[in-house]
Amino acid sequence: MRPLTVTDVRAMKAAGRRIAAVTAYDFPSARLADAAGVDLILVGDSLGTAVQGHATTLPVTLDQMIYHTAMVARAGTRALVVGDMPFMSYQPSPEAALANAGRFLSEGGAAAVKLEGGHPAAVERIHALVESGIPVMGHVGLTPQSVHAMGGYRVQGRAEGDAGRIVAEARAIEQAGAFALILEGIPEKLAKQVTEAVAIPTVGIGAGVHCDGQILVWHDLLGLGEGHTPKFVKPYAHLSRSIRRALKAYARDVAEGNFPGPDHTYH
Ligand code: KIV
Repeated sequence: MRPLTVTDVRAMKAAGRRIAAVTAYDFPSARLADAAGVDLILVGDSLGTAVQGHATTLPVTLDQMIYHTAMVARAGTRALVVGDMPFMSYQPSPEAALANAGRFLSEGGAAAVKLEGGHPAAVERIHALVESGIPVMGHVGLTPQSVHAMGGYRVQGRAEGDAGRIVAEARAIEQAGAFALILEGIPEKLAKQVTEAVAIPTVGIGAGVHCDGQILVWHDLLGLGEGHTPKFVKPYAHLSRSIRRALKAYARDVAEGNFPGPDHTYH
């Protein structure tokens, strides 16, 4: 089956087909997501919190993101692979954004990049990338790279003025040429309003059911985290329990001399 393009993903909205998206950070995970029929794989900078053990996404570097994007792209998925631009890889200038986004496509093998924010500078970056032939996914609402500016990971757009700003940002991102838009951590009523206001698909996380698609972080979706589960997460499995059980059984077998047995030994 041929890989989905940004045009295919964009067209899913008009066709009334919902987009199933998930994050992934390596080759085997990308293969599993693809076999399950996921439409879009985001190599998210949630790498920092889900995989690297950081408290925020801010320490994630461009080289790390390219490294993980290349692993995912090597799986040769039908799903569209989008690389997430990390903190300070696009904020400094349009030139920096262009050079760094280009690496996601040329070295990472991604088909598109994502960047956070809908303020004028972010919209300018999106426009510059799209003009240079690099497809961009926008991201508004709760934007984790602005954790300090937001005063923590808080639902955005509850206040009237904020809601209006988020709708205006979504429109500006569409105008700048983005092919899709992540809506994170906003009330469902606002997500519906944004989804109706733009022709590009919205992909929600903590934004309710009215988005054109949904995305979850790999570890949250599969129950691989060990800490608090946010309200918007539905774990479709509890893999950390299964993994702990398996490792415990292995450690016991080794300690008791039951592994390897005759079946796992060359005679
Ligand atoms: O980094 C990430 O995984 C993301 C998704 C949560 C949308 O930005």
